[in-house]
Amino acid sequence: MQAKEIRQKYLEFFKEKGHAVIPSAPLLPENDPTVLFTTAGMHPLVPYLLGEPHPEGKRLVDHQKCIRTGDIDEVGDNTHLTFFEMLGNWSLGDYFKKEAIEWSFEFLTSEKWLGISIEKLAVTVFKGDDDAPVDEEAAQIWKNLGIPDHKIAYLPKSENWWGPAGVTGPCGPDTEMFYWVGEGEPPESSNAGNDESNWVEIWNDVFMQYNKTEDGKFNPLKQTNVDTGMGLERVAAVLQGKKTVYETELFEPIIEKIESLSHSEYSDNLSSFRIIADHLRAATMMAGDGVKPSNVDQGYVMRRLMRRAIRHGKNIGIEENFTHVIAKKVIHLMSDTYPELKHEEEILKTFQIEEEQFRKTINHGIKEFEKLLAGFQMAFEKAGKKITEISGKQAFKLYDTYGFPIEMTTEEAEKHNLTVDREGFDKAFEEHQEKSRAGAEEKFKGGLQDNSEATTALHTATHLLHSALHKVLGNHANQKGSNITAERLRFDFTHPDKMTPEQLEEVEKFVNDAITDDAKITCETMTVEEAKEQGAMGLFEGKYGEKVKVYTVEGWSKEICGGPHVEHTGILGKFKIKKEQSSSAGIRRIKAVLINEQ
Ligand code: ALA
Repeated sequence: MQAKEIRQKYLEFFKEKGHAVIPSAPLLPENDPTVLFTTAGMHPLVPYLLGEPHPEGKRLVDHQKCIRTGDIDEVGDNTHLTFFEMLGNWSLGDYFKKEAIEWSFEFLTSEKWLGISIEKLAVTVFKGDDDAPVDEEAAQIWKNLGIPDHKIAYLPKSENWWGPAGVTGPCGPDTEMFYWVGEGEPPESSNAGNDESNWVEIWNDVFMQYNKTEDGKFNPLKQTNVDTGMGLERVAAVLQGKKTVYETELFEPIIEKIESLSHSEYSDNLSSFRIIADHLRAATMMAGDGVKPSNVDQGYVMRRLMRRAIRHGKNIGIEENFTHVIAKKVIHLMSDTYPELKHEEEILKTFQIEEEQFRKTINHGIKEFEKLLAGFQMAFEKAGKKITEISGKQAFKLYDTYGFPIEMTTEEAEKHNLTVDREGFDKAFEEHQEKSRAGAEEKFKGGLQDNSEATTALHTATHLLHSALHKVLGNHANQKGSNITAERLRFDFTHPDKMTPEQLEEVEKFVNDAITDDAKITCETMTVEEAKEQGAMGLFEGKYGEKVKVYTVEGWSKEICGGPHVEHTGILGKFKIKKEQSSSAGIRRIKAVLINEQ
């Protein structure tokens, strides 16, 4: 059964059970700063799971585009993907465990639908802990349907609990369904949930009974919901008796295309082929939703996926621009289901531009690498010194100055029988992170994205904001994270409660007064101890005696920081807080902008 048919059947089955079919939401979540991408079918439905009425009613079904980057290093094995489709059905305060499980069972086993033999199935249920009791109710429903005791495993929260998608939100125990893909008959006693190579998880029914709050409590939800998720690619693979998702019709044409471009065989290079196929499929779907490669947020993830695919392309002998060819294939395969891919020309252009730019970077990096080799050769000829290792510093310079990825330095080194001091590289990388502004690779650790005027101004405003928070809320309001783009600042800090409108106003006023004051900004270098003595706010726990830079906004703020900053505050414009919200337990987040009034 092909994916297309599975998708259709799923929607049809739940339509028959009174569900409204809703469209897939975009990959970029709206109004949700806690994640970059839609990670599950339930994600766009969070407001409704919390009680907001859904315009389509209380029973919903869809197929949702999802991106999960958490397992990116696993991509290349049989099952992990960054982009995948999730089939899901929901009850918003309507049916609960009984119907959810019975319908899952019927859809899986009935000849009219997937027709899976009951012998090939096993399930897991929640074992219970301090937050919630064992889910005997779910286990009993399975037993009544004919699933024998030994095919029902009880597992802890790490396995049988779902959510919340962000830090807080709806969540609850779940029951998962597994399909036997091992050799011969499944064993008498099932270890589904603990044996990925023989039991593949195909469906998850989540019983959302709780709302996880900022302080880590699980409060019962007013409305109990069902949230289910079935990974389409995996189900297609197991139903087709394929060992991996890459052997299904969803991926095979992509793999074949890569074979023809590389003149090498998939079977000899499984991992590189799969990484290219997965990453470029994901990048194409991102482009369909308007993402462009960049150094921030979703664009940064797309850039990393593309660059990794290009590097693996090199591994299998692809030297010409090729990502747009694969993107075209993906569009061809997916655009019937996802019409947003129809603006093909624009998508392909995005791929071409990004790849050209990256190849330039690579070529430049290789030239620099060759210079390094020439230096090694010279050292040998002149002084008889044989160098066999590229130092961490040298590798870091290639990366930092020329954008040459460390993986490529390692590959080039191998070609010349040289080693790379990877530890030294990592150390140089970390030092760089600590001492100076964050670069693109450090995106997820926060920091300044570039040195443009706009970001510099927002950086100074961030110091004033930090100082204002100390004044208004108290000295506990310390920085927990900072991320600045040309458009806005984002600042995370310790504080237990939501800020009141009065507090927000006071903070804004403090910053704007500092701006009106046109205070001068000075910078001094001193030891961490001296900085502390002078009352500087410090973000990093410096080592004893270590020298740091301290930026002072005269009369308003003093803070240990790598810079850069503007010279005087008068040029900042007007400071405005756009949002104050929770970031995670005990941490608040402010987003603010500077408005230039001419
Ligand atoms: N939200 C659940 C999952 O992603 C169904 O597994």
